[in-house]
Amino acid sequence: MTQQTYDAIILGAGAAGLMCAAIAGQRGRRVLVLDHAPEVGRKIVISGGGRCNFTNLHTAPDRYLSANPHFARSALSRYTAQDFLALVERHGIAWHEKTLGQLFCDGSARQIVAMLLDECAMGAVEVRCEAAVSAVSHGEGRFTVGFSGGDASAASLVIATGGPSIPKMGATGFAYDLARQFGLKVVQPRPALVPLTLPAEEALFRELSGVSTPVAAKVGKTSFAEAALFTHRGLSGPAILQVSSYWQRGEEVGIDFAPEEDAGWLVAAKRARPKASLRRVLEDALPSRLAEALAERVGVAGDLGNVSDKALTAAEGRLADWRFLPDGSEGFAKAEVTAGGIDTRGLSSKTMEATKVPGLYAIGEAVDVTGWLGGYNFQWAWASGVAAGQAV
Ligand code: FDA
Repeated sequence: MTQQTYDAIILGAGAAGLMCAAIAGQRGRRVLVLDHAPEVGRKIVISGGGRCNFTNLHTAPDRYLSANPHFARSALSRYTAQDFLALVERHGIAWHEKTLGQLFCDGSARQIVAMLLDECAMGAVEVRCEAAVSAVSHGEGRFTVGFSGGDASAASLVIATGGPSIPKMGATGFAYDLARQFGLKVVQPRPALVPLTLPAEEALFRELSGVSTPVAAKVGKTSFAEAALFTHRGLSGPAILQVSSYWQRGEEVGIDFAPEEDAGWLVAAKRARPKASLRRVLEDALPSRLAEALAERVGVAGDLGNVSDKALTAAEGRLADWRFLPDGSEGFAKAEVTAGGIDTRGLSSKTMEATKVPGLYAIGEAVDVTGWLGGYNFQWAWASGVAAGQAV
């Protein structure tokens, strides 16, 4: 079989790979995209509950985690949430802001995949699915990729195969193997935006499975005010997923169950309603099963009128910083993204090209840049894809 030649081969037809391919193709580059999955953009299709939270209006570099915190700045400033939104509008896709700057399709996430494929078609990009990559080699300024279906070579190779989160969707650690093959370093990958698990002694909270409430969740100095959800294994919900990205094994997670209350609110409640129990007062702000569990654990029994101000102030402090010591997370099987990845200290922040391997690029989730929950990860995929697409 003869070898096909291209200007750029992109491994991975996900968010970053398709965006990169479209930009490069529209610049007149001959582009081949290879993906081992039966269809492109599977994570896009399931994202945002099927509506794809495709970007966030509040995108800023400080909403991304990386061992090299300034790396994302350049690409994010050159391709913004507004730029992606303009593309969505050009394709006539209806959208809405849900909350906290999160933009979703009104209809289906499949519209975003169709839009990316249209953009690729405009650049005459060749996209091949069910193409498992067997070998990649490099010599005389070209990369040769062997895959089920033949082999191809190009002066530029883009690693866009994502991270290992949700393996059942076809996610692999292939990007890291390939990066290491070319001498790039990898920051230890770990599950992020993932539910945390609680040990057996916290069974009381696991029994609250299904209960959700607005909280402020904190790990170290980082805190997020969103909903938390009790699960049969531990804690989930947006606030917990957000702190999970910052959480290290052995660290406590602090939860403020009354984030809207001013200091002294329990003593004020005692003055206003001396005949009420703590449970009843908590029920005003919290689901009743949770109010009952917390009141039991705080150990304030009977009418508030009979409890000292000191004891109520102590109870208030406990409710404002309830400590959980998770024993782990639900792992890559349930993680929305992977933190860590290809070390950005070996990449150009302008083009995503490996500084020591000219022609090799890495983009998207494969790279050690991880966004908050809420459209930030797709915005990184688009921005890093555009940066490389303009350079290959
Ligand atoms: P992505 O994973 O999209 O693509 C990688 C591609 O490479 C895949 O098509 C895969 O099949 C292919 N591949 C892998 N290994 C390969 C190999 N060995 N050979 C060939 N091909 C290979 N983010 C956000 O901003 N808003 C949201 O609403 C959501 N929602 C969401 C829900 C769920 C359930 C998950 C799991 C994730 C999200 N995310 C999200 C995160 C978002 O999906 C993620 O950050 C991007 O898809 C990353 O884009 P990439 O292109 O880097 O990887």
